Amino acid sequence: MTRLQAVAAPLPHDSAELHVTGRARYVDDLPEPHGCLHAAVGQSARAHARIVRMDLSRVAAAPGVVAVLTGADFPGLNQIGPVLLDEPALAQHSVDYHGQAVFAVAATSYELARRAVTLAEVEYEDLPAAIHLEDALAANHDLLPPYEMRRGDPESALTRSAHRLEGSFRLGGQDHFYLEGQIALAIPGEDGGMDVHASTQHPTEVQHVVARCLGEIDAKVRVECRRMGGGFGGKETQANQIAAIAAVLARKTGRAVKFRLDRDVDMTLTGKRHDFRIDYRVGFDEDGRIEAITFDQAARGGCSADLTGAIADRAMFHADNAYFFPHVRIRSRRLKTNTVSNTAFRGFGGPQGMLGIEEVVDEIARHLDRDPLDVRRANFYGPAPRHLTPYHMEVEDFVLPELMDELERSSNYRERRAAIEAWNATSPILKRGIALTPVKFGISFTTSHLNQAGALIQLYTDGSVLLNHGGTEMGQGLYVKVQQIVAEELQIPTGLVRITAADTSKVPNTSATAASSGTDMNGMAAQAAARTLKERLIAFAAGKYGVPAHKIVFQDGTILLGERRMSLRELAKEAWMARIQLSATGFYATPGIHYDREQARGRPFYYFAYGAACCEAVIDTLTGENRILRADLLHDVGRSLNPAIDRGQIEGGFVQGLGWLTTEELWWTKEGALASHAPSTYKIPCASDLPRDFRVAIWERGRNQERSIHRSKAVGEPPLMLAIAAFQAIKDAVARAAPGKGSPRLDAPATPERVLFAVKELRRRAAALDLARAAE
Ligand code: MTE
Ligand code: MOS
Repeated sequence: MTRLQAVAAPLPHDSAELHVTGRARYVDDLPEPHGCLHAAVGQSARAHARIVRMDLSRVAAAPGVVAVLTGADFPGLNQIGPVLLDEPALAQHSVDYHGQAVFAVAATSYELARRAVTLAEVEYEDLPAAIHLEDALAANHDLLPPYEMRRGDPESALTRSAHRLEGSFRLGGQDHFYLEGQIALAIPGEDGGMDVHASTQHPTEVQHVVARCLGEIDAKVRVECRRMGGGFGGKETQANQIAAIAAVLARKTGRAVKFRLDRDVDMTLTGKRHDFRIDYRVGFDEDGRIEAITFDQAARGGCSADLTGAIADRAMFHADNAYFFPHVRIRSRRLKTNTVSNTAFRGFGGPQGMLGIEEVVDEIARHLDRDPLDVRRANFYGPAPRHLTPYHMEVEDFVLPELMDELERSSNYRERRAAIEAWNATSPILKRGIALTPVKFGISFTTSHLNQAGALIQLYTDGSVLLNHGGTEMGQGLYVKVQQIVAEELQIPTGLVRITAADTSKVPNTSATAASSGTDMNGMAAQAAARTLKERLIAFAAGKYGVPAHKIVFQDGTILLGERRMSLRELAKEAWMARIQLSATGFYATPGIHYDREQARGRPFYYFAYGAACCEAVIDTLTGENRILRADLLHDVGRSLNPAIDRGQIEGGFVQGLGWLTTEELWWTKEGALASHAPSTYKIPCASDLPRDFRVAIWERGRNQERSIHRSKAVGEPPLMLAIAAFQAIKDAVARAAPGKGSPRLDAPATPERVLFAVKELRRRAAALDLARAAE
């Protein structure tokens, strides 16, 4: 008899059919409780100001308004900060960014609530505001203390290098643009209880924050989330405020309150990816091999700490990407601006750090007139002593040389580079470029204690199983993967394993579903729960039927007890009759990780996920328009738990990265208002922006060296960084506008405007160079 193979099967997303038929229930689709009210917030019209006077009498008198709420009315603390208590749910006394929530209302309809908040009379007294990163740098406005990692003596090693380069560039932020905006529905219960349905990646934190704002114990608050219509990091902490306001209004009115953000409000009120400025100095040899490097990263944190500390740390942890630095110093500043507080976004700072080093490697290659791919390879991690990261962790599982060989071959990189060269020689206006870049991404929360997860499994007497764990579903396919893991463990069809919503009353004290480790951790916890249950059943059956425990196996839908076989349904029924407990919990804590933040040393990551991408781009030198003509992605997911889901993550991650680096541009006015706050002004990629020729492959030889769940690897975030190849390909195309005349200056995102300016600037420099040479 064969084993039932649930793991590694390319099953569709568990809700695929519900998604496409519109039957999947999101928070806004839940039946509204009787008398449900709707919330809206009044937003600050200033970036930084003292509130001199706030008259809400017209708001309170507006049609449909049942309650008006200010920060002073919170029964508990008016604080939503996840790490530091430095962020009010509703601003009091002063405002710190344009669009900040200053008061809230609950009204009988969504429309009436939105109309009412426009009637407030607020008088401000302006205070000096730092809007852009440069303003904060000039004013030395640090949000959090700077941090440094170092190995060796980069300062003196730099002076000894044969070649040296230094530079500075900027990369932009990104709005999450989840299809389902932020939303929470709070339902007051008896005796201080509060049930909250929230679109959140972190139900436990929403529970804590709601309890804090209500002044209640955690046990009185229950938070549930069946699914999100996308989170991408934007619902790791940003759901706190939405749920807190809904819950405090629910407490105040004694009625259910739903708070749903309209797209413009969502974009102005909630945090985004951190934009960065990165300065570097690098010393290298004839082959482009880096001898010493320093990075100065500056991150725009916005008005409060939120997760900025951990995000800026991760940018530092990825400043090496795939490369060994003999001497290195990475310094990071986390700056305070009067803009919305920036937050987690797929990659969590990693993409920013990684883009930094990929820029540097590219500059080195152009300086030496080498193929960037050769310079990349020359700098790869290798055997000791070339295996040490800037944070002193040993890279033990470095598969990139192999993986890159495969992609170099399958993408025909060398031939195509030559063909592009020839094509460019005949094309005066359109120019093409190509790039092949690697990704190495550390898996684990760098705050070590967050690497824990729990699960709960209940077996019913008909042999069906109810599965619950601390992970949340945001479209990434976590739930179907964990379902597969449990089905495999119990050797039953996935259809018998019922997936249920994340719920703080079932599995407590969970971490956010983030850092790509949702499956790694919840999969392990669920497997542990299934094993506990299985062992209990085996012990029972061994006693009852006199068969040694090791002769009892769960296999392909049945249980073999020596000669006898029975179904799980029969065994469950018998166990119940014998009063055996049929529910079990499971727990997992990622082993072997530690990090000493004082020393900036440790092993913060359980393992690394790898990938590589080859992109070909074309630009129009008259308009700056650009397209990705072809993209070849090869990504390491270890042993895939579900190749269909993994492929979706690779494609989706890459395209989201493409948006970040090409079209998505956040724009603030001088006054600090976000000008790009709707799809009309903020351009995410659509179907027509996909590479014309898009080839995506899972690396067949992938296998996790660590004992991860079925030797798989996390896949949620790493593929986003494959899009760096697209950016470098565009930059390569810009360089072809004046070949051999230096390197273009191109900040991210490479919008048509920036590409056009980069072409012009490069040509201006080239002309000046030619003039100077002619004069010699
Ligand atoms: N995929 C979809 N479809 N929607 C999302 O919101 N979020 C990403 C990634 N993939 C996201 C997604 C982010 S930021 C993370 S951290 C991971 O999924 C989280 O899920 P995992 O840990 O289960 O991979
Ligand atoms: Mo993902 S940015 O870790 O939620």
